[in-house]
Order: sequence, then C-alpha cells, then structure tokens
Amino acid sequence: MEIIIEEFHTKKEMYAQMARHIQNIFSEANDLYAALANTSALLNLYLENVNWTGFYLCKDDALVLGPFQGKPAVARIQIGDGVCGTAVKERAQQRVDDVHSCCNHIACDLNSASEIVTPIFIKDEIFGVIDIDSPLSARFDETDEEGMRLLAETIAGQIR
Ligand code: SME
Repeated sequence: MEIIIEEFHTKKEMYAQMARHIQNIFSEANDLYAALANTSALLNLYLENVNWTGFYLCKDDALVLGPFQGKPAVARIQIGDGVCGTAVKERAQQRVDDVHSCCNHIACDLNSASEIVTPIFIKDEIFGVIDIDSPLSARFDETDEEGMRLLAETIAGQIR
C-alpha cells in the first residue's frame, strides 16, 4: 500500500491526516499485527527527528514489545518500570523532555534524548502504549500530546 503525504499547514492537521491513514491501514490489513506494523512505519514516515516509533502491548501483567521501527529494544517491561511502564501504572500519557535526567527511563537507544508514551485505552483497559523516542531533547510539545492521543483513540476505535 502506498501512503501519500498530503500538504498540511499545522501539526494538528498532520495528526488528523495520520489518523485517516491509520483507519485505512487497519481496513486494508484486517489483521492486528500487520496494521500495527504499518502504523509504526507511518509514524516513522511522518514524524521528524525521531529514532524509535512503535508499540508495547499489555500481556500477562507486563508490556511486551510490539511492531516498531528503530533499533532493537527491550522485549518486556514490567508495569511501573521505565517511561512505558509508568504510563500504564499511572494510566496517563508521559512526556519526558530529557530522558537522561529521568531516573525511571529504560535506555534502548543511547541516542534518545526525549520521549512521549501514550496509552491506548480500549473501554477502560489499557491495550498497550505508543512509544516515540527522539534524539532531540524536548522534541515533543502539547500539540504532539494531543495528536498522539488522537492516534491512540483512532487505533483503539479500529481494534474495538
Ligand atoms: N524508553 C522506554 C523503553 C523502550 S525504548 O524507548 C524503545 C522506557 O523507558 O519505558
């Protein structure tokens, strides 16, 4: 499948466009892992200055590595550990401007400087998280937080 990046003027428009692509990706794939794999590629295609884009999925009371783009990463994260496990424990999106000053950060790529982790809620349960790393410190802002929540809700809507 070919993804065509249309013109956008704001980050908000970019995320809205990505959400539409995610809906098409899920319809076309008709398979959870294939759709998440293409969604991780979509995140990597659209977002500038990122070095890891992907998923950790809740399984057996832990987070297990899902489809992603980037360097090989830790396969299993306990709830409460790292930025990803904290997002699940606190049931809240995490934005870390400087991962080096964050004591509860699990380093997968030493180039990572900032990170945003967004839970995917299905009904009231957390299905998993979207994890994005950047080599730039403070790469993510409030618009990214809002945009990533839109993408998480879009994914949840396709899985439900
Ligand atoms: N930094 C994450 C671990 C996963 S890697 O970034 C891909 C964390 O602290 O949970």
